[in-house]
Amino acid sequence: MDFKKHIAARIRAGELSEAEIYDLIAVPPTTEMGDYALPCFRLAKSLRKAPVLIAEEIASNFATDEYVTEVAAVNGYVNFRIDRAFWTKQTLERVLSERERYGSSEEGKGKTVCIDYSSVNIAKPFHIGHLSTTVLGSALYKLHKFLGYTPVGINHLGDYGTQFGKLISAYKRWGKKEDVEAGGLRALNALYVRFHEEAEKDESLNDEARAFFKKIEEGDAESVALFEWFKELTLKDVGRIYEMLDVHFDSWAGESFYIDKMAPVVEELREKNLLTESDGAQIVDLEAYGMPPCLILRSDGASLYATRDIAAAIYRKNTYDFYKCLYVVAYQQNLHFKQIFKVLELMGKDWAKDLIHVAYGMVSLEDGSMSTRKGKVVYLEDVIEKCVQKSLDIITEKNPDLENKEEIAKTVGVGAVIFGALYNNKIKDITFSYEKVLNFEGETSCYVQYTCARANSVLEKGGRGKKVSIEKVCPQEFEVIKQLADFPDVLRDALEKYEPCFVARYAVDLAQKFNKFYFDCSILNAEQETKDFRLSLTEATLITLKNALGLLGIGVPEKM
Ligand code: ARG
Repeated sequence: MDFKKHIAARIRAGELSEAEIYDLIAVPPTTEMGDYALPCFRLAKSLRKAPVLIAEEIASNFATDEYVTEVAAVNGYVNFRIDRAFWTKQTLERVLSERERYGSSEEGKGKTVCIDYSSVNIAKPFHIGHLSTTVLGSALYKLHKFLGYTPVGINHLGDYGTQFGKLISAYKRWGKKEDVEAGGLRALNALYVRFHEEAEKDESLNDEARAFFKKIEEGDAESVALFEWFKELTLKDVGRIYEMLDVHFDSWAGESFYIDKMAPVVEELREKNLLTESDGAQIVDLEAYGMPPCLILRSDGASLYATRDIAAAIYRKNTYDFYKCLYVVAYQQNLHFKQIFKVLELMGKDWAKDLIHVAYGMVSLEDGSMSTRKGKVVYLEDVIEKCVQKSLDIITEKNPDLENKEEIAKTVGVGAVIFGALYNNKIKDITFSYEKVLNFEGETSCYVQYTCARANSVLEKGGRGKKVSIEKVCPQEFEVIKQLADFPDVLRDALEKYEPCFVARYAVDLAQKFNKFYFDCSILNAEQETKDFRLSLTEATLITLKNALGLLGIGVPEKM
C-alpha cells in the first residue's frame, strides 16, 4: 500500500495532476508533525492564493478514512497522519514474507544496463584510487539486478599502450622470471618504476620500448607471450581482491579487444565528414561545443584511448542493445567522456544520450596521495588486510571467547573498507581513515553489523516467526516501522541517482532507530503480545539490514 499515492489521489488542486501532487508530498522531518506533508508554496502561483489558505482548504476538504486518521493545516503545509497499527501490520507482513527479496522489484524487467567499472590497468598497481570505481560499480550492479534490470558488468581492462613496451624492455633487462612470478603486480610495478628511472638517464630506452610495443601490435610471438603473461599475473592478483570484495564481471573485454574494431569507426567518422587533420593527427573538432578536439588517430596512425572507447560504446550497443551504459570513472575523466559522448552523438547514434558517466571523487589516505611512476603507492590489498587485522584486534578485545574470530574479522574489515568508500556522495573527495571506518559507534558498517548481531541474539533467545496482532504502536517502534517501509523507495532513488550512499546511510539510520527502540523498550521482558510484536519487528529489521548491506557487497556475521 502506497499511502502517498492514496493521499495524492484524493487531493484536487487546480491544474496539478495526481503525479505532480505525488511528487510534492514529502516526509516531514519529525514524526510529531505527521507522517506525510504537502507543502502548498508551489501551488500558490497557479491557484493565485496564499499557501496558508490553500493548505486550510485542502485540509478541510479531506475527510479522514481508514488509512488517513488525521489531517491538519499548519503554516502552509497539510500534514497527514496514517493509521499506525495498519501501517505497522502491513509493513511487517511484507518484510517477513518477502525476506531476502524485500526491497526488490521488477521495474527494470527487459532492460539491459552495461556497467563499466573497476577497469584496471594491466601491470599497474591496484591501489586505493581504484577502490571507489570497484565498489560503486559493484553496488550499482547489485542494485540494478535487485530491481529487475539485466546488468552487464564490464571490466574495460587497460591492456593496450606503450607502457607494455616499457615493461617488456624492463623485464628483459632487469627482470627474473621467479621474482615476477612470486611478486606479481608489485614486481611488475617495480620494473615499471625502474624503467622510468633509467630512461631519465638514457633516452634510448624509450625507443626500445616503442619498438617492443610495435612488436606486440605486429603479433611477435615472444612479445605477445610476455604481454599475455603480465596480463595473467595481474588478473590473478586483482582476482583475489575482487573475491574479497564480492565483485564480479560478465565481460573482461579491455582496450586491446577493440584493436580490430577501430578501423570501421574511423572510416565512419571520415564518411560522415567529422574528421579533420591537425598537425598530421586525425581529430574531431569540438570547438562549437566548447571542448578541445577529440583525438582519434595520432600522426603515426596509432589509435587513442578515446578511439577505443568510441569503438567500445558501439560494440556494446550492438552486442547488448543496452537501455543505458554507465561508466563508473573518476571525475578527472569528465572531459574525456563529454568528448566521446559528443562524437557519438555527431555520428548520429541516437543512443548516445543513454551513455552516462557516473563520476566520483578521489580517495586518499590520511598520509597523502600516491604516484604510480615514483613507486609511492598504497595498494588496496594492503588497506584491506590492515582493516581485517584491526578488526580482529577490536573483536578479540570486545569478545575474547567468540568462535570463528578470523572469519568474522574478515567480514567486518572488508565491510569497513567498502562502506568507507560508499558512505558519502560519490562526487566528494574522501580521506580514508582506519579509525573512522572501524568506529563501532560511528556511521559505519561495523556499527550496522553489530546491530545485526544484537538483533540476532535477541531472536535467538526470544524466537522467530511470531504471529502478531497489533493494537498499539509506541513512537520508538513506529520510527523503525517507517524506516522499514521506506526501503524500496530508497533503493529506487539510489538507482535513479546512481548513489549507493543512499543505501549505506539508510542502513545506519535503520540501525540507529532500531537501537533506540532496543534501549527504550524492553523486548524479552515485555508481556506476551507486545513481546511477539517486538520480536517480529526485530526480525524484520535484521532482514532489511542484511539486504541493504548485501547490496553494497557487505556480509553480516551472526555473532560479533
Ligand atoms: N583504465 C582506465 C583508468 O584507469 C579506466 C577505464 C574506464 N573505462 C572506460 N571505458 N574508459 O583510467
